Amino acid sequence: MKVSSLVCCLFLASPPPVQQLHRRQAYLSSGGCLQNVLAQIENITAEVLPLNIVTDILAMAFNESEKISVSSSSSSSSSSSSSSSSASASPAQLASSGNRVLKTSEKLISTLVKRTETSATVSFTLAAVEGQVFMVGPQVTLDKIPQLTTTNSSVDIDLIGIAKNSNEKSAAVAFMSYTTMENLLKADFFNTTNDTIKTMMSTVISATLPKTSNTALTKAVNFTFRHIREFEPSGSLSCVYWNISEWIVDGCSVLNSNSSHTVCSCVHLSTFALIMQTSSSPPESSDLLDLLNLVCVIVGLVFFSLALLSFALCQWSPGVNNVARINICISLLSAHLLLLLTQQFLSLIRPQQVLCVVIAGLLHFLFLSAFVWMFIEAVLLFICVKNLSEISSRQREVLSSGFLCVIGYLVALVVVCVSIGLVPEGYGSEQCWIKYDKGFIWSFLGPVCVILALNLILFIRIVIILKSALTKLNAEVSQTKQTKVMVFKTLGQFVVLGCPWILGFFTNGNEMLEILFLILNSQQGTFIFLIYCVLNNEIRQQYWKCFTFLCSGRKQR
Ligand SMILES: *[C@@H]1O[C@H](CO)[C@@H](O)[C@H](O)[C@H]1NC(C)=O
Ligand SMILES: *[C@@H]1O[C@H](CO)[C@@H](O)[C@H](O)[C@H]1NC(C)=O
Ligand SMILES: *[C@@H]1O[C@H](CO)[C@@H](O)[C@H](O)[C@H]1NC(C)=O
Ligand SMILES: *[C@@H]1O[C@H](CO)[C@@H](O)[C@H](O)[C@H]1NC(C)=O
Ligand SMILES: *[C@@H]1O[C@H](CO)[C@@H](O)[C@H](O)[C@H]1NC(C)=O
Ligand SMILES: *[C@@H]1O[C@H](CO)[C@@H](O)[C@H](O)[C@H]1NC(C)=O
Ligand SMILES: *[C@@H]1O[C@H](CO)[C@@H](O)[C@H](O)[C@H]1NC(C)=O
Ligand SMILES: *[C@@H]1O[C@H](CO)[C@@H](O)[C@H](O)[C@H]1NC(C)=O
Repeated sequence: MKVSSLVCCLFLASPPPVQQLHRRQAYLSSGGCLQNVLAQIENITAEVLPLNIVTDILAMAFNESEKISVSSSSSSSSSSSSSSSSASASPAQLASSGNRVLKTSEKLISTLVKRTETSATVSFTLAAVEGQVFMVGPQVTLDKIPQLTTTNSSVDIDLIGIAKNSNEKSAAVAFMSYTTMENLLKADFFNTTNDTIKTMMSTVISATLPKTSNTALTKAVNFTFRHIREFEPSGSLSCVYWNISEWIVDGCSVLNSNSSHTVCSCVHLSTFALIMQTSSSPPESSDLLDLLNLVCVIVGLVFFSLALLSFALCQWSPGVNNVARINICISLLSAHLLLLLTQQFLSLIRPQQVLCVVIAGLLHFLFLSAFVWMFIEAVLLFICVKNLSEISSRQREVLSSGFLCVIGYLVALVVVCVSIGLVPEGYGSEQCWIKYDKGFIWSFLGPVCVILALNLILFIRIVIILKSALTKLNAEVSQTKQTKVMVFKTLGQFVVLGCPWILGFFTNGNEMLEILFLILNSQQGTFIFLIYCVLNNEIRQQYWKCFTFLCSGRKQR
């Protein structure tokens, strides 16, 4: 420790030649002297340092700041030997260490600027920070410098205009994007009059004009931020800049915004970020919507169970295969139940990222398998209608229940597995469902659309066959009639199960449509129960028997 301090002091006393700097870096990493180095950096004015030294010192400075932010998030355990981090960093400490890191980085990156006649650029990428410097000189021929970009943000600045206004006809811009800075300069430092939840939506960035004599901007600077979190449509976005101890808006505005990017325009340079405000208490209408949802889903679940019970108990009409219908009910019943439980306990589930992802995958699987079963039912119906004229027992054997079960669930499973394989991070949105960005939602909507389209084609074929069968009426009139009823019921089910999802795709914040979607989607069980049980003579008679039995039983007691 003593030796390294000594080396640091040497380093402090007289900035050593570049070659010696390399040797001294070894000592720099040993804790205490880093503070001195950082203090020394504050007094740098004109030096030009090579890129590798700048990045090494930056890496160490961020390593140090990380310890502070870690100790602030895990307040109890602070056995770390570092002297600068106390038990739990207060907001003031966070802000001041944030300021220090910002200052250090800006100073360091300014040492990358060297004189150039035309133009030059330097960039680097570290785990904690990405940076880019663009310099222009008197002989520059560009009209406009290219956009400076880092992974999650970019900046447009009229550096040519700035250079023209300065004495030496030269200028430089340094642009940095800090991956972890939001742990120090927290979104909570944005103080607004209304009590909202603040979420950092971008990486913290800073833009400066190092070694430029006239730093007055000729045009507003435009920053494009990529959202690093899912954007909530109900939230409001603010472009903010860092002023010593807080985020403030002055002079910055949102130019335009879409779901994945926001462009901010600012009339000065410093450190910027994009913060989303969401109301801390959810609006009343959403409360009402939640209650409506709860009631509807529970009603739907009750009818699903009743329908399932009826199908299982009444093995009527040997010609009709019940397997598909039972499995549609099982898939949808479990899916709706799981969805309901997830919604109710979201606050408990959300922190468990793995559980959330598993639930999203399971929901994807269950809803998809319901659709596959719907397709199977349509195919069975098609075969049944064809068999009105040409009966082949072979077909019926092929479509045994076991085989159907394999198909019904395997297809959905394959889709889910392929989805995971292609986009591993696609599951687990804020609602523990599929993430909407990057088009991953098509792993659900795609198969659904295909199945709906296939079903439509099948139904058209079925109706055509039925029509021709009806024209040549023969002895099997009653069977034809029965099949016709069956076709219309299945068609009804197809509409009831398929349409809500298509509708759901278009709700996009429209409350009326959302309520309609909610009701239609939750009442699938009720519709199935109505179509197959209430509108079915045999089952109705069974119910009636049970009912009278129960009533008479009670009377006898
Ligand atoms: C930086 O410069 C100021 C003024 O020149 C001086 O007071 C201060 O001690 C210097 N800091 C270091 C660490 O050398
Ligand atoms: C950061 O600190 C850890 C120990 O706290 C050390 O292992 C690591 O090498 C350091 N990284 C850099 C880039 O200095
Ligand atoms: C930033 O956007 C504003 C408004 O679109 C525009 O007037 C300005 O020229 C842009 N600035 C740069 C540097 O492109
Ligand atoms: C936030 O602003 C309010 C007044 O607008 C003030 O009373 C409060 O102290 C401020 N909070 C912080 C942390 O600056
Ligand atoms: C906060 O209040 C301002 C006006 O007082 C309003 O314009 C803004 O939309 C509010 N923000 C939120 C998230 O409610
Ligand atoms: C960019 O944003 C993504 C999230 O959208 C994040 O995972 C990643 O770490 C960010 N990269 C940098 C360098 O900030
Ligand atoms: C901070 O805010 C004050 C008042 O709004 C302003 O005068 C000052 O210039 C700002 N400082 C920076 C570094 O932007
Ligand atoms: C959002 O805006 C950014 C920049 O303005 C653009 O690159 C991106 O393609 C847009 N994304 C969508 C989905 O419109």
